[in-house]
Formats: sequence, structure tokens, C-alpha cells
Amino acid sequence: MKSSKATKVTTHVLQEMKLKQEKISMLTAYDYSMARIVDRAGIDVILVGDSAANVMAGYKTTLPITLNEMIYHASSVMRAVSRALVVVDMPFGTYQGNSREALLSAIRIMKESNANAVKLEGGSEIIESAHRILSAGIPVMGHLGLTPQSINKFGTYVVRATQEEEATKLVEDARLLAEAGCFALVLEKIPAVLAEKVTREISIPTIGIGAGSQVDGQVLVLHDMLGINQEFSPRFLRRYNNLYEEIKKSVENYIGDVKERKFPNEKEQY
Ligand code: KIV
Repeated sequence: MKSSKATKVTTHVLQEMKLKQEKISMLTAYDYSMARIVDRAGIDVILVGDSAANVMAGYKTTLPITLNEMIYHASSVMRAVSRALVVVDMPFGTYQGNSREALLSAIRIMKESNANAVKLEGGSEIIESAHRILSAGIPVMGHLGLTPQSINKFGTYVVRATQEEEATKLVEDARLLAEAGCFALVLEKIPAVLAEKVTREISIPTIGIGAGSQVDGQVLVLHDMLGINQEFSPRFLRRYNNLYEEIKKSVENYIGDVKERKFPNEKEQY
């Protein structure tokens, strides 16, 4: 089934989708060509995730990617997209602990890439930054649960909020972000029952990744769901293709044709 009939998805459209219990589809994209395909397929939200650090740049964590690099990815995506709402991750170090720097970073993303919204990881720790960005009229998406920018604090990428204390904080943080005026909330790798509770208790849409089915929408990293990146296979990941093998096979066929003088043929020359 295709997504909402809206010609351009806005934060208001997402809110209506929650009210109508229409599921929200979200995928990452980082470049013009992929974003064009994903948008034309009818996705509701494109996230220019800082997972670009992993799948585009080959870093082990999301921490090294810079604001300039995120703006480069976001503006490439924006040149391709006509329908989806485009959200850009604020990279590590551009919003934590300094709300003025957070505002200036968010303004740079919006001005230089023309994106529609930004995403911040964390709850009470970043609420001052969220308030300041929102007060400038910039839509903010929250992100709770497994927040990869805090990997050095957590130490591992295991399921978060399985214990009561962390689960209680997560619910409080979700309320805080919703009350501040965030338009949606990503819930990453938390128990399904907790994600369902948050989804019932807050008025803004929740988008899950490894958070079960009782959330308002789902997000996956494009390279993971297409099977381009084969080294990452958590339980929550459904692979819709095996592009690693398909691309490799195509390249091997091309190499073979070149070596055996089968490419180009007469019709493929001038
Ligand atoms: O950077 C990213 O791709 C993300 C998603 C996993 C939600 O934050």
C-alpha cells in the first residue's frame, strides 16, 4: 500500500497520519540518486542520518561526521526530493551542552541544505538546545532509546531501557520532547511494550527502529534494508534485497566482458 496522498509531506501531515492511525514510512538517504528513487517510490520521510558516517564514509561510529559533511549529504538529497519530508541529523558535538551553538548549527543546516527539519539525540540533556532551535521556527525530531552518538557512554549497541529506571526516564524524556514542541520521535532498539506505552502517552508520532509494531511508523537504514551492507544483521532488520551480491555480480560480469573483449560490441561504438 502506498503512503498518504499528500503532494508534499509536512510535519502537519505526519500529525494527521498519527490521528488517522495511518503508518508513517521513513528511510535514510544520503545522496541524490538514491534519494530520487526513495522519494519517487512514495516514502513519507527521508532521514539524512548521521549513519552516513558508517555506510557512506566507513567509520565505526557516527561520531566523526562533521556539520559540513552532513550539509553536503542533505543538500544532495534535497535536490532530488519533491514529496518526502527531509529530516537531517545534527552531528555529534554540534548541539550537546551549548544551546547557542545548537541553534547556529541548525540554522546552517536549514539555510545551506534547504532541508525541512533536524533530529537531535537525547532527552532532558538536550532539551535546552531543542527549545532554542524550536523557537527559531525549525522543526525538531527527537531520538530516544539507543542513541548511537552516546556509544562511548553505553559501551555497546544492545537493547536499551530494559530496566525500570531507564524505562521511566525514557517515558519522561518522551513527554518532555513532545511538550517542548518536537514534531516526532524516533525510538531505537527498545522493548516493544515500552515503545507502545510511549506511543499511547504522547501526542506526536513515534517512529520505531527495533521498537516493535505498535508505534506510528518505521525507519530503517537504506543500505541495511537493501542488503548493500551485509555486516550488520540485528534481529529487527528485514532485508528487502541482496544488492551487495547483485552489484558484485554485475561488476564481475563487466570485468569479464572487458577482459574477454566482449564490451563494447559494434553497436556500442561510434
Ligand atoms: O542515523 C540514522 O540513520 C538514524 C536512524 C537509525 C534512525 O538515526
